[in-house]
Amino acid sequence: MKKSLKIYLIAAFFLFVFLLISLVNNYGKLISIEEIIFFIISLFIVSNMSILMNSSSDFIISMNIPVLLPTFALLSPLGAAVTAALGTIEWTKQRNHFVWYKFLFNRIMFFVAAGIGGIVFEIINNSLTVNYQLISLFIAALAYFFVNNALVYIVVKLSKNGRESNSFLVYLAELVKNLITSYFLGVLLYYSYIEFGKLFFILVIILLYILKDFFYSRIQQLNSYTQIIESFLKVIDSKDHYTEGHCMRVAEYTSELSNALKLSSLKREKIISVAKIHDIGKIGVSDKILKSSEKLTIKEYEEIKKHTTYGYELLKDIDLVNDQLDIILYHHERFDGTGYPKGIKAKNIPIGARILSVCDAFDVMTRGRKYKAAMSKAEIIKEFKECAGTQFDPDAVEAMLKLIERGTFDHCFLEKEIVEGLDVQAVKSNY
Ligand SMILES: [Fe+2]
Ligand SMILES: [Fe+2]
Repeated sequence: MKKSLKIYLIAAFFLFVFLLISLVNNYGKLISIEEIIFFIISLFIVSNMSILMNSSSDFIISMNIPVLLPTFALLSPLGAAVTAALGTIEWTKQRNHFVWYKFLFNRIMFFVAAGIGGIVFEIINNSLTVNYQLISLFIAALAYFFVNNALVYIVVKLSKNGRESNSFLVYLAELVKNLITSYFLGVLLYYSYIEFGKLFFILVIILLYILKDFFYSRIQQLNSYTQIIESFLKVIDSKDHYTEGHCMRVAEYTSELSNALKLSSLKREKIISVAKIHDIGKIGVSDKILKSSEKLTIKEYEEIKKHTTYGYELLKDIDLVNDQLDIILYHHERFDGTGYPKGIKAKNIPIGARILSVCDAFDVMTRGRKYKAAMSKAEIIKEFKECAGTQFDPDAVEAMLKLIERGTFDHCFLEKEIVEGLDVQAVKSNY
């Protein structure tokens, strides 16, 4: 474990002890054991139910905040903190990979975040002359959310050797939508509890789970759709073995580059999923042209160029494909407007297509093609510098060069000796 991480974990522990002592001193007498046990059990069930339901998926909608939110108003800050620390224990995770300091950190993190959430609720609620609990709950939820994510963000940043390049604000912005949904669900649960009691509270949770399952099946549908598309890719790879694995490698570079350009993670995910299938239109190009070892005629090259339009046309009517599909259509546009199929230029080209164009070319340069030798790292840097502003978006190139110089793509360069030993002929266009 890194020293900075150790210091951070010790500091978090002292923060926990300090908060525990002050909460016990201020709210120790207010504690209602029966209510706390009820909320701990409810929270424990929802924390574990998502895992039981979707054990094979990373997609988990957290119900923690909705169940925890009412505790800010119904229990004291100490009660909320204890509920959060104990109710969020994920049984399956602990059973499979129990790491004591991770377990302890998670308990501390939830305790501190919910304790602060509870205190914020008390302060706001006591200072408002009218009883606007919804406002107090919202600010308490914000405080909880902020503290919780800040503590996690720091631990991730420290344990990743600073490789988490998203700034904290970008990271938070991504999660805000979850917070808003969680807040409304939390308010619903809060009123269910105070108006109709514990039984109704449980019934609403069950109802939310049924709805959640409905949305989950929609996501699964989307995943199976992606799998079908990826099978298409294998067909394309087998049609043109010179570009085997090309789309997947380009998707990997796209992920790094869109990260470096600080795109939101939602947009990044969409771009990556389209990058994986960006040459799908080759399915409409004849085998003879794709497999030809001769230099392409102008007519054949014109046919190959159609793969952008074919790909777009193939997928555009399918609802499940995300809204970044025009990346496929525009991935061979050039920044100066001399690309194809439309000849649009500069920022009129969607950002995803500008990123993809750089990554697509990078794969061609590192791997070479039938008529084009693979290039060395120095040659690629030189080429990108020369083509910034003409073929490529200069901002995307600048970010790409930083990544290349930093060594992010060092595993992609072939050894020069191996390259020279390849049976490489003259230059063919990059398609
Ligand atoms: Fe292409
Ligand atoms: Fe490509």
